[in-house]
Amino acid sequence: MLDSDPRQSQFILSSPAKINLHLEILGIRADGFHELAMVMQSVDLADTLFFKVNSNARISLTCNNPKLVTDEKNLIIQAAQLLKSRSGLPNLGAIIGLEKRIPIGAGLAGGSSNCAATLIGLNKLWNLEYTPIQLLNLAAELGSDIPFTMKGGSQFCFGRGEVLEFIDNLKIKAPNRAILIIKSPETSVSTPWAFKQYKEARQNQYLTEESDFDLRRQILRKGQLTLALKGQAPFPAIQNDLQEIVEEHEESVRQGLNLLKSRTESLAIAMSGSGPSLFALFDTLESAQVAQFQLAVTLRDQGYESWCTSLLSHGIYLDDCNE
Ligand code: C5P
Repeated sequence: MLDSDPRQSQFILSSPAKINLHLEILGIRADGFHELAMVMQSVDLADTLFFKVNSNARISLTCNNPKLVTDEKNLIIQAAQLLKSRSGLPNLGAIIGLEKRIPIGAGLAGGSSNCAATLIGLNKLWNLEYTPIQLLNLAAELGSDIPFTMKGGSQFCFGRGEVLEFIDNLKIKAPNRAILIIKSPETSVSTPWAFKQYKEARQNQYLTEESDFDLRRQILRKGQLTLALKGQAPFPAIQNDLQEIVEEHEESVRQGLNLLKSRTESLAIAMSGSGPSLFALFDTLESAQVAQFQLAVTLRDQGYESWCTSLLSHGIYLDDCNE
């Protein structure tokens, strides 16, 4: 069933990162996950994945970053194994190469995006013909952020993060806005840890009624996001409910937020996901680059890496993942 033409049996996919423009925790669910209301946004900071058929039925992964685990703990391998086992075709094999640019454990969904790219890539490489909906369902089985990274662009993400609503024209994105991301390479934050800390601090004080959840979703849909200029924070603004808890425990997050707040003319500043990446929103890519340049020495001295990127209107591979 595999195409014998070698040009068809290998290809490359770009796997972009995301930021959370808004992360609101509504409630705690019976399955232990949190009920969320988020706005996620793909950004132009991407890894590259290379796929090639492996005739010996094995799935292998190599990566340019030696710090990344390449065994079953890696979501790329998990995605490949899930797709292979569901296909019922034990002879399928793949050689997968990953060129990592998105920082690891950063709250930028690099691992989730690689996982989504693997589902799309191997579906093509192995000619499995899963539909976009089937791929999105497999993605949701593997992790809460993975469906978003597959479709990408600007989306409301509800449920545990996997219920997507495409936002056609996110007001806060217009017209050419871009972001500066900073992260300390020494720090990474575990998502389960961050949610657990939040839960303990919250002492089970959550919304409980579906009607309350729905009201919050409506507010977000209607208002989209507002910029909290001059210290006033109209709701819903760019904000992250996990930020306070992570800030308390991670000095690099606290310091980084202060640095961005005191030294840049940005429109908004927040943590992405469960951190520790922080971002500042600017009117244009040029203004983000100017801020990066002005902060360059301080960032270096305080040990932060930084990236300037524009906001993308798509995820992994537009044709294959939009219904
Ligand atoms: O779905 P994913 O594997 O990304 O989630 C990692 C962990 O983050 C979960 O096991 C859970 O502890 C926490 N989480 C949560 N509520 C969500 C998403 C994740 O509590 N909506």
